[in-house]
Amino acid sequence: MLRSLTSASPTDILTLEPSLAALTAPNDLIIVGTGGHGHEIAWVASEATIEWRLIGFLDDQVSNHGQVIMGARVLGALTDWTHYSNAAFIIAIGSPRIRRDVVRRMQTLGRPRFATIIHRSVIHSPQVHFDEGSMIMPGSVLSTDIRVGRHTIINQSSTVGHDATVEDFCTLAPSVTLSGNVTLCEGAEIGTGSSVKQGVRIGRGAMIGMGSVVTKDVGDHELALGVPARFTRTLEPF
Ligand SMILES: CC(C)(COP(=O)(O)OP(=O)(O)OC[C@H]1O[C@@H](n2cnc3c(N)ncnc32)[C@H](O)[C@@H]1OP(=O)(O)O)[C@@H](O)C(=O)NCCC(=O)NCCS
Repeated sequence: MLRSLTSASPTDILTLEPSLAALTAPNDLIIVGTGGHGHEIAWVASEATIEWRLIGFLDDQVSNHGQVIMGARVLGALTDWTHYSNAAFIIAIGSPRIRRDVVRRMQTLGRPRFATIIHRSVIHSPQVHFDEGSMIMPGSVLSTDIRVGRHTIINQSSTVGHDATVEDFCTLAPSVTLSGNVTLCEGAEIGTGSSVKQGVRIGRGAMIGMGSVVTKDVGDHELALGVPARFTRTLEPF
């Protein structure tokens, strides 16, 4: 469940702002990113396995500052996180590259604490390890002996099979199926509705187009797509 400042009037929120830094508590949540994924994370946090209190958003777009989104105010730019350093942060940005860059920028100013947000409907065994900053969206199923790395998104209705490894900064779009023993290297991105055969390794910063069936390993920084998935082009290094 999520408690937010929704019930407060805009004036109340403004009044609270200067003292938020001192008041922030371990379950206070700040979402970095105000786009569609940021809205989704606000919703998922409200129905998560841990009770979060959404206290606001951060976004570098100055025109968004002060706006109220999903019942919480846009508090400032990314670098303003230090004013709320007792809170937990979640980077709600779909692109692995941008998400990784945002984390790096925040870490130049200190050691932010990142939330791990798991929707209540997610099914997983106790043998799944979720690292900080990961977001596990509604209806996902993860079986046994799985590692989900830092700042990884497992999007809605995706499934992850036994002994799979999903390294840091990966993004699984909705309805992805990873079979057993699959490895997604750091920053790999899997398009909506794609399936990956057991034992396949998808390289660092690689991308799989939506609707693909991946039957063989995909190299670092490669874009592959289709049924079966074929190499299409080389991407920027991750
Ligand atoms: C694969 C992908 C990255 C290619 O993007 P792109 O380089 O911008 O390519 P374009 O959209 O310009 O398409 C180029 C061609 O590839 C085709 N194509 C694009 N994606 C394809 C896919 N997944 N499977 C088959 N063909 C595809 C297009 O129809 C187009 O064909 P054409 O030249 O005959 O018209 C992108 O289409 C994709 O699948 N992204 C993942 C989307 C997703 O899962 N989003 C989740 C959001 S939560």
